[in-house]
Amino acid sequence: MELYMFPLLHIIILSCSSNLFLLPVQPLCHKDESIALLQLKEILTINMSASRDPRAYPKLASWDQAEQNGAESDCCSWDGVQCDGKTGHVISLDLSSSCLYGSISSSTSLFNLKHLRMLNLADNHFNHSQVPAKLGHLADLTYLNLSNSFFSGLPSEISLLSNLSTIDLSYVDISSQVPEFLVNLSSLKHLLMKNCGLYGDFPEKIFHLPKLQFLAAQHNPNLTGQFPEFRSGSPLRTMWFSRTNLAGEIPFSIGKLESLEILSVAKSKFSGFLPSSLGRLANITFLDLSYNNFSGEFPTFLQNLTKLNILWLGGNQLTGQIPSWMGNLTELRVLSLARNKLNGPIPQSLSRLKKLQTLNLYENYFNGTVDFSMFDDMKDLMELALGNNQNLSVLTNRANNTKSTYPKFEILGLTFCNLREFPEFLKHQDKLRFLDLGRNNIYGPMPKWVWNASMHTIVFLAVNDNFLTSIEQFPTMFCELSSLVLLDLSNNLLSGILPQCLENPKNVLSILSIRNNSFHGTIPQICSKNGSNLRMIDLSYNRLKGQLPRSLANCMMLESINLGNNQLLDLFPSWLGSLPKLSLLTLRSNRLHGVIRNSTSTHEFQSLRVIDISYNNFHGELPSEYLRNWHSMKVTDYGRSPVTYMQTQSSFEAVRRTWTLEYAYSTTITVKGLNLHYGRIQEILVVIDFSSNRFQGEIPHCIGDLQGLRLLNLSNNNLNGRIPYSFGNMTSLESIDLSRNKLSGEIPRSLVELTFLAFFNVSNNLLTGRIPQGNQLSTFENTSYMGNLELCGDPLSKKCGHNADKSPTEPSSRFGDHEEKDWDYSLFRDFNWLTVVIGLSGGIVVGVMLENTIMTKKRVLWLAKKITCWGKKKSQARRRI
Ligand SMILES: *[C@@H]1O[C@H](CO)[C@@H](O)[C@H](O)[C@H]1NC(C)=O
Ligand SMILES: *[C@@H]1O[C@H](CO)[C@@H](O)[C@H](O)[C@H]1NC(C)=O
Ligand SMILES: *[C@@H]1O[C@H](CO)[C@@H](O)[C@H](O)[C@H]1NC(C)=O
Ligand SMILES: *[C@@H]1O[C@H](CO)[C@@H](O)[C@H](O)[C@H]1NC(C)=O
Ligand SMILES: *[C@@H]1O[C@H](CO)[C@@H](O)[C@H](O)[C@H]1NC(C)=O
Ligand SMILES: *[C@@H]1O[C@H](CO)[C@@H](O)[C@H](O)[C@H]1NC(C)=O
Ligand SMILES: *[C@@H]1O[C@H](CO)[C@@H](O)[C@H](O)[C@H]1NC(C)=O
Ligand SMILES: *[C@@H]1O[C@H](CO)[C@@H](O)[C@H](O)[C@H]1NC(C)=O
Ligand SMILES: *[C@@H]1O[C@H](CO)[C@@H](O)[C@H](O)[C@H]1NC(C)=O
Ligand SMILES: *[C@@H]1O[C@H](CO)[C@@H](O)[C@H](O)[C@H]1NC(C)=O
Repeated sequence: MELYMFPLLHIIILSCSSNLFLLPVQPLCHKDESIALLQLKEILTINMSASRDPRAYPKLASWDQAEQNGAESDCCSWDGVQCDGKTGHVISLDLSSSCLYGSISSSTSLFNLKHLRMLNLADNHFNHSQVPAKLGHLADLTYLNLSNSFFSGLPSEISLLSNLSTIDLSYVDISSQVPEFLVNLSSLKHLLMKNCGLYGDFPEKIFHLPKLQFLAAQHNPNLTGQFPEFRSGSPLRTMWFSRTNLAGEIPFSIGKLESLEILSVAKSKFSGFLPSSLGRLANITFLDLSYNNFSGEFPTFLQNLTKLNILWLGGNQLTGQIPSWMGNLTELRVLSLARNKLNGPIPQSLSRLKKLQTLNLYENYFNGTVDFSMFDDMKDLMELALGNNQNLSVLTNRANNTKSTYPKFEILGLTFCNLREFPEFLKHQDKLRFLDLGRNNIYGPMPKWVWNASMHTIVFLAVNDNFLTSIEQFPTMFCELSSLVLLDLSNNLLSGILPQCLENPKNVLSILSIRNNSFHGTIPQICSKNGSNLRMIDLSYNRLKGQLPRSLANCMMLESINLGNNQLLDLFPSWLGSLPKLSLLTLRSNRLHGVIRNSTSTHEFQSLRVIDISYNNFHGELPSEYLRNWHSMKVTDYGRSPVTYMQTQSSFEAVRRTWTLEYAYSTTITVKGLNLHYGRIQEILVVIDFSSNRFQGEIPHCIGDLQGLRLLNLSNNNLNGRIPYSFGNMTSLESIDLSRNKLSGEIPRSLVELTFLAFFNVSNNLLTGRIPQGNQLSTFENTSYMGNLELCGDPLSKKCGHNADKSPTEPSSRFGDHEEKDWDYSLFRDFNWLTVVIGLSGGIVVGVMLENTIMTKKRVLWLAKKITCWGKKKSQARRRI
């Protein structure tokens, strides 16, 4: 199981207070200002999809100049408008989440409101228009919020706002370097630039803003930078730990930043060491440096940051051990060190962090023993992740579960923690959303109370890869878990029958894996009722009998079905062809039989990319109409980056955050005669495995249309006739196994076009003639060709007679007998090979299957020779021209 979790957003709520004095008699608003406001209303449209906050409503709708009770309407009373009590000028305009849509330019009447101190346009849709330069003329502005408003750019006039204390530009599409003119905003306390498309080095000068308390620049994935040494009051020059060449230069001013309270540069591209001078940030309460590229030993300056509440350092390259003084930072509520390279024991002193709500030490190299009783007093602890460490053992039996104040977990990740039993304290947990106990050494039956504990809250439950022998009350309890999305019981010793309630569970189950247990009996009629959320079902490697449940055809969301290695007795489930998203179907090693009839429509199995029906009892001809219509196998998609996998995503709320869960589909695929379990499968993988059945007749010509096919296995059937010439069109093929059939005729020369071919086996057939020479086909081992009495030429020791060269039966082709064209063609082919070789030497995997390919020495030599030849031929070609 591959599982990644990450909090989507760290939500920071910024409160702003307005300095409004309410006097008994308030003057009416100024005429010109009310006109300006109404003009603003004119140019913008109300559009309910322009704001995303569920509480949004069109504030401007109520703005109206019409006289009421004989008096002119007072704009100071309009929604979102506030006036100065003495002068009557509009000083505050809060149009956040007002469903406004349209462009705003500098000519907009808005800029006639010269006395504005506060302007909030957040959460509207300003149609990607430029942030108007005229904003710089609102000289009294202290608060400016343009976040989430589909503005772009940032004009330098902003730097004229010398009174500005807060500017929130989050999600404004700035797409430039961090503008240095922000440094002129000397009153600035709050600078928020989350997800603004910023890039380049973060300007050191920003750190010199004298009053800065809140700096947020997270989610700018191309924003680089390091932290300078802050040396306030000292004449020493500022130091950068950097690649940049600042050494020797005297910086303009000296960094202070002691006023900083909140600093976040998460999910950007900062790097380097964390300088000890960060220890001067004595007032800092929130520090989020997660998911950057910081390196070096565990930062010692943290011991000075005694006010620290929230510390996110996950997803960096930090090394060393957690010092015991971390236990002195008793204000900590969040401590996340996940996904670093920290090692050593987890210090007992952390038990003093009684305010902790989140403790995440996932995926480091920690070792030693953690006694769960160390969390006894952390009564607010909701999120605890200790999994995937080097050699960490968690002892749960001494945890003091009698205390009523014991933590109530929502997220508990204890995968690979050397657990030997179900932690008793789980009995009292009734708020769990996520429980991962996978990859431990838990023996014996799975107790009933595991199901009971968080019956209404649990979303994710994984106890895979343990030694569980039976499940108490499985039939009834499981379906009562009303929030369950994922259940993973794979790789245990579980037995018994599957619960009937799977037919109509009371939950939103989307992923179910019971792979590799000993369940028996028939498969219940899963998805009896429409509207199932099931996306993946893996029942493989059990002892299930009977027919495939026809109800599976109702699981309209299904993407992956794995029923392999059971004892199912049925015909080919052509009725699954109607599932629009089914991309992976594995039925290998069952007792399926009969003729696979041709499809009746051209849309069946429209998303299928991996099909494995090997080791069954199918007979008759290969289903040529299916092969013709599996259009998703015709898609070739090279060089896609980043690599994507067949997987499903699901979101849930826990610990006041939104979590995204990614679950990769897995299956077993036979490659080179070896059964390899793929923990995740690249989306570009296309596989047909029909091997070890009793298929007969010829291989249909139309198979050549499946140009995305990577792996074709038709071995061990009764196929006869020729290898279709059209094979040469399946240029993605990396592995072909046609061995142990009755194929005859010659090996078509078109196969030399398959430049990614890394495995080829046509042994034990009735093939004749010369193996195409002088190309990659002769570099495979002779075992690839053995057992064909009439086959000759390299790598077989049998030499070809004179007649073998000219085969009258070889279809004529564009590569046929013209030597020159052949030469052109091999130039092209060599070029492809070159790409492959560069890929391998650079550590980049080009083909999918190449990950598992060990080339023979002979092949590598051949490749090397080819590349040299290629260079020569190219220069020859030039000379000819
Ligand atoms: C409403 O706003 C959305 C953007 O949120 C825009 O795509 C759409 O065109 C707008 N509709 C109208 C009628 O202006
Ligand atoms: C939105 O922007 C586009 C392109 O700049 C423009 O054509 C369109 O008129 C704008 N729509 C509104 C409602 O301002
Ligand atoms: C980051 O840079 C890469 C390469 O220049 C670019 O493709 C990508 O779109 C950039 N990402 C953002 C969020 O600007
Ligand atoms: C730190 O916070 C305290 C109390 O809020 C405040 O008095 C002090 O001025 C702050 N220090 C700095 C350097 O801003
Ligand atoms: C940390 O605090 C100690 C004393 O509390 C002080 O001597 C030291 O200079 C501080 N370190 C930094 C980097 O500010
Ligand atoms: C941590 O706290 C203990 C006990 O209060 C104290 O003895 C020790 O000096 C502190 N360590 C640091 C590094 O502040
Ligand atoms: C933990 O690992 C360190 C080396 O990284 C080793 O010295 C130490 O003995 C290990 N401790 C335990 C309890 O395994
Ligand atoms: C467990 O808690 C009880 C009651 O608070 C206390 O008396 C007992 O000493 C604790 N046991 C352990 C092992 O901490
Ligand atoms: C499928 O249809 C083709 C013609 O399109 C036919 O030649 C073939 O025999 C049929 N196969 C089966 C299994 O019915
Ligand atoms: C490959 O496909 C093309 C067009 O689909 C076709 O003309 C050609 O004959 C095919 N080549 C082989 C070797 O089947």
